[in-house]
Amino acid sequence: SARNNIPAVAGYPIVGNVFNVNDEVPVRAIENLADTYGGIYKLRFFGREIFVVANHELLEEMCDEKRFWKAAGEALEKLNRPGERLGLFTAPSEELPDWQQAHRILVPAFGPLPVQDIFPEMHDIATQMILKWARQGSDFRIPVTLDFTRLTLDTIALCSMDTRFNSFYREDMHPFVDAMNVLLGATSESLRAGGIIKSMMPWDDTLKRVGAARDFMDNIAMDLVKYRRAHPTDKRDLLNAMINGKDPKTGLHMDDKLITSNMTTFLVAGHETTSGLLSTQTSRVTEMDRSLTHIAGFAFYALLKNRHTYLAAQEEVDRVVGRGQLTAEHLKDLPYLTGVLRETLRLHPTAPGFVRTIRPDNPNEFEYLAGGKYALRRGDNVLCAIGKAQRDPEVYGPDPDAFRPERMMGKAYEELPNSAWQAFGTGARACIGRGFAWQEALAAMAMVFQSFELVLADEDYQLKIKQTLTIKPDDFYMRATLREGVT
Ligand code: HEM
Repeated sequence: SARNNIPAVAGYPIVGNVFNVNDEVPVRAIENLADTYGGIYKLRFFGREIFVVANHELLEEMCDEKRFWKAAGEALEKLNRPGERLGLFTAPSEELPDWQQAHRILVPAFGPLPVQDIFPEMHDIATQMILKWARQGSDFRIPVTLDFTRLTLDTIALCSMDTRFNSFYREDMHPFVDAMNVLLGATSESLRAGGIIKSMMPWDDTLKRVGAARDFMDNIAMDLVKYRRAHPTDKRDLLNAMINGKDPKTGLHMDDKLITSNMTTFLVAGHETTSGLLSTQTSRVTEMDRSLTHIAGFAFYALLKNRHTYLAAQEEVDRVVGRGQLTAEHLKDLPYLTGVLRETLRLHPTAPGFVRTIRPDNPNEFEYLAGGKYALRRGDNVLCAIGKAQRDPEVYGPDPDAFRPERMMGKAYEELPNSAWQAFGTGARACIGRGFAWQEALAAMAMVFQSFELVLADEDYQLKIKQTLTIKPDDFYMRATLREGVT
């Protein structure tokens, strides 16, 4: 039958395919399986099936909002606590009132003009990073992933909670970050064989530790909301948008619990993703680590491994921005850097997948023939492995693994087919922080280019990736020398 057209990955009784994805980087294992099984295949874990889509044609179908919508999936749902208000990211359905209210209030708050209003905060934190690199001198091995994590974390904390984590001035991390890492670590562990087995043991205290971490984060967030209510300001930041914003449909404000759920959501969703982008590329690596932080890491890795792209990026910054202070207006005139970031997220989507399912609100749709021959049923979860689909030779030609920012610029970019690039998700549940992340990553890159000549600290470093929920470069160090004339 059409159901059986979908290849099943050979596994073991009971555990199913647990060992097929027991890679240090599970998403890489999932992408590699597509080389054997093709653009759609089926995995089984303890009797539960999950479908994987890994080519462009089928990804485009999964992005059709008339037929499919987001399935929050097991990993994300684990981040919810029973009886609690739902943050945007983990809400199991877009029909729930918590999601709808926060979505209607927050979409405008993340629009282009409000995001420009917080440019000074982003500039402030990026300046701290630049000063630190300058003072450490050119012999210092910059831990790229860690420093971009500091950057994105401090930026989102300042913009959404009006709080300075001061991560550039301390060796350890702010206690809020430690708590968040307990939460994310447990979530990703719970998806691996070791974690699943551990959770069956009577002495496993994961739930208790996660509960304590959540309480700690919620209390900090709640105190910040209460403080702002008691000491109102006219700042145009995300905290005020949440406190003052009115739902255009119902006229209601968000209550404190819904605000705090979304505050912690932004912290989690808003730092891992961007820092990774700023640090990678080149070898065949993919995972689900921290997308924002890591956009930066992945980008610098790619640039340093491809010298001509590094020089082109530097030339653009010198020509457009020069040595004066970077402003928000400069950012729209940086097409090459924009291409670098897009190409980075094509090869290393820091949020490496999202899960889709047949819309239950369409009473007629119970079964759907993907690609005209693969039967998917209502309730099936389909993991879209975008790191693989975004390297489809049908779209990207014979060199889909090559880092070529040009293919993500101007006409070439505009002419890409629908769903060729889905790094920020799709439809109603697409990334709300896209403009925020983009402004932050572009600004950080431009400021680094203005100030420094960069080199790999280990000349022959090959990209290593680490995965929690998102992916990030591991063990990646650079050296930075102040450019002539920079003071
Ligand atoms: C959703 C990627 C930065 C907040 C998403 C989704 C993706 C994504 C793929 C969809 C997930 C799904 O369908 O399950 C990224 C990447 C980023 C980034 C690659 C950086 C390079 C940010 C930032 C924020 C943010 C900076 C907040 C300030 C969110 C939220 C959602 C989301 C709240 C859930 C939206 C909803 O379901 O209504 N992101 N993100 N993200 N992102 Fe981002």
